[in-house]
Amino acid sequence: PSETGRVLSIQSHTVQGYVGNKSAVFPLQLLGYDVDPINSVQFSNHTGYPSFKGQVLNGQQLWDLIEGLEANDLLYYTHLLTGYIGSVSFLNTVLDVVSKLRSINPKLTYVCDPVLGDEGKLYVPQELVTVYRERVVPIASMLTPNQFEAELLTGLRIQSEEDGREACNSIHAAGPSKVVITSINVDGNLLLIGSHLKEKGNPPKQFKIAIPKIPAYFTGTGDLMTALLLGWSNKHPDNLEKAAELAVSSLQALLQRTLDDYKSAGHDPKSSSLEIRLIQSQDDIRSPQITFKAEIY
Ligand code: ATP
Ligand code: PLP
Ligand code: MG
Ligand code: NA
Ligand code: MG
Repeated sequence: PSETGRVLSIQSHTVQGYVGNKSAVFPLQLLGYDVDPINSVQFSNHTGYPSFKGQVLNGQQLWDLIEGLEANDLLYYTHLLTGYIGSVSFLNTVLDVVSKLRSINPKLTYVCDPVLGDEGKLYVPQELVTVYRERVVPIASMLTPNQFEAELLTGLRIQSEEDGREACNSIHAAGPSKVVITSINVDGNLLLIGSHLKEKGNPPKQFKIAIPKIPAYFTGTGDLMTALLLGWSNKHPDNLEKAAELAVSSLQALLQRTLDDYKSAGHDPKSSSLEIRLIQSQDDIRSPQITFKAEIY
């Protein structure tokens, strides 16, 4: 399958390193997509470093770019992809962008990574949670929360894979037909839970992929994961488990390469967060070997 499209990707830009658009644009291009990045921030480096400097785009500045595209009939997109968003005003403008894009292409797929926090810690202002829950989730086509985000958006506690499946059901009821909880922690290992509601009224098709946890902390992986899920799920629209197998297999090959490179350079991979070896992993992105299999429930 070679189905591609044109993706508007509203995410962070870092001058050095790979998070946000820096970790999403290149892989989508490798998979054959035209990708138009809007940089929601431009920072020197990601916020995990001791310091960073740069600029933040506000909602009006985002809208200016949309108006510029519209004035030249350039607003036709097949996909919108959003990740980390730092303020309610910017998120409200993103909602306007979704409406505008859907007025031009009613079939627009909106892939939303509802970045709120991780491992029990919120890293956006609290008031964003309500806006995501009440206004963003209902209009998203595919949602890729982590465990903590799925809990915040559903109000459910997720401690088991059963809980993860229930959370997916609850998210389907709110709107998105595709949900991937990118990682839940079960007994020290990672579990991805995917769910595709093919027809309303029928049970969704659900699956899991077990992922051994690598003892290191990576950044940019969540953003890369969502980009890969967009890329592959569009090529396999009726087979979310296949899309997830491809995405996880690419990502894990990249993480292994990242780990090996740091180790052979004499670094302790547990001492700081690792910059992913994205460019070096282009073959694993373009044509992944499926090394991680989905188990269908
Ligand atoms: P979000 O983008 O909302 O933060 P997330 O918390 O799931 O989502 P990450 O924690 O970056 O994002 O994980 C994304 C994917 O990266 C996971 O599904 C997993 O496949 C992989 N991953 C990240 N860290 C590790 C690790 N230490 N060992 C193995 N896989 C990992
Ligand atoms: N965007 C910016 C500016 C960041 O600093 C970070 C992480 O530090 C991220 C996004 C998130 O990256 P991840 O994909 O690991 O969730
Ligand atoms: Mg995480
Ligand atoms: Na995620
Ligand atoms: Mg993230």
